[in-house]
Amino acid sequence: MRGFASDNNAGAHPEVLKELEKVNTDHSVGYGDDEYTRKAIDLLKKQFGAETDPYIVLTGTGANTLIIQTLLHSFQAVVCANTAHINVDECGAPELLTGSKLISIETNNGKIKPDDIEPLLHTVGFEHHVQPKLISITQPTELGTLYSIDEIKSLSAFAKKNDMYLHIDGARLANAAVALGESFKAITFDAGADVVSFGGTKNGLIMGEAVIFKDQSLGENFKYIRKQGMQLFSKMRYLSAQFIAYLNGDLWQSNALHANSMANKLREKIEEIDAISLTQNVESNALFATIPEQLIEPLQQEYFFYVWNPEINEVRWMTSWDTTMEDINGFVEKIKSLL
Ligand SMILES: Cc1ncc(COP(=O)(O)O)c(C=O)c1O
Repeated sequence: MRGFASDNNAGAHPEVLKELEKVNTDHSVGYGDDEYTRKAIDLLKKQFGAETDPYIVLTGTGANTLIIQTLLHSFQAVVCANTAHINVDECGAPELLTGSKLISIETNNGKIKPDDIEPLLHTVGFEHHVQPKLISITQPTELGTLYSIDEIKSLSAFAKKNDMYLHIDGARLANAAVALGESFKAITFDAGADVVSFGGTKNGLIMGEAVIFKDQSLGENFKYIRKQGMQLFSKMRYLSAQFIAYLNGDLWQSNALHANSMANKLREKIEEIDAISLTQNVESNALFATIPEQLIEPLQQEYFFYVWNPEINEVRWMTSWDTTMEDINGFVEKIKSLL
């Protein structure tokens, strides 16, 4: 089966599987006290900054939720876009496990800005209201759009000025880094982020994400919270090995570049079809488009994808590290034959 439903649907990259074979020898101390995890942590620090404090976890929902739990009291709130994964795709895990309210902001492109947050601050210090404490942005956004470094800097300056934290949900951070032509460090901590959820699963790993604090003072309680939050994996070497494969060379880069360039190729072909209109700029590895309703079902049967907004027949098409030109040509031919 091939399709454009999600980069989650792609397999793991062979280099990742090779690395897993390599660490699958002898015994290794569990829970992260092993040489492979030390190497993976070193590689994460190399990418994000020597002073950062990285932890490996199993899932992105776990990363996001435990970050909120680490940094906020339950009376403090998270400000995010209405489309944010923490807001709509985590089944309420952040609210359940942290007690913190999520305040979501309507956007038309998945991005929030200081002006959207400012009006929420008039109740700071008033005990009847939750206290906004963390700004959470997703990079690239759930709509495939990108924050520029300047936009992140202005959000972090706003956060600092108002005694708030800035979190970046980087489930697809590699796609953002290659699209912007910048390092992970430049688009996160150099731009003023306090903490990052760094994804691997969507770009060639079987599973594995990292939580990276800007320094040890912010992350000092995270190891306990990770254990309580059931995200401390016992055979950690198998998660760490995947990050070694991902970050030791340029696998993260080549996979993300490929996924993004396939999205661009698909965009070029879709733009030639009058009956289809893109609804977002294609800036990473996702396309959003309104398509004639009668196309949806037959197309989904051959190339599965999700309907994003049924009211306007808007669909999401995602490319991944293993998308091929045959996938794209076959898909576009199928669309044309149905029109
Ligand atoms: C923006 C974003 N954040 C986080 C996640 C992590 O989700 P999961 O808990 O499935 O690893 C995803 C997965 O789709 C995502 O798209």
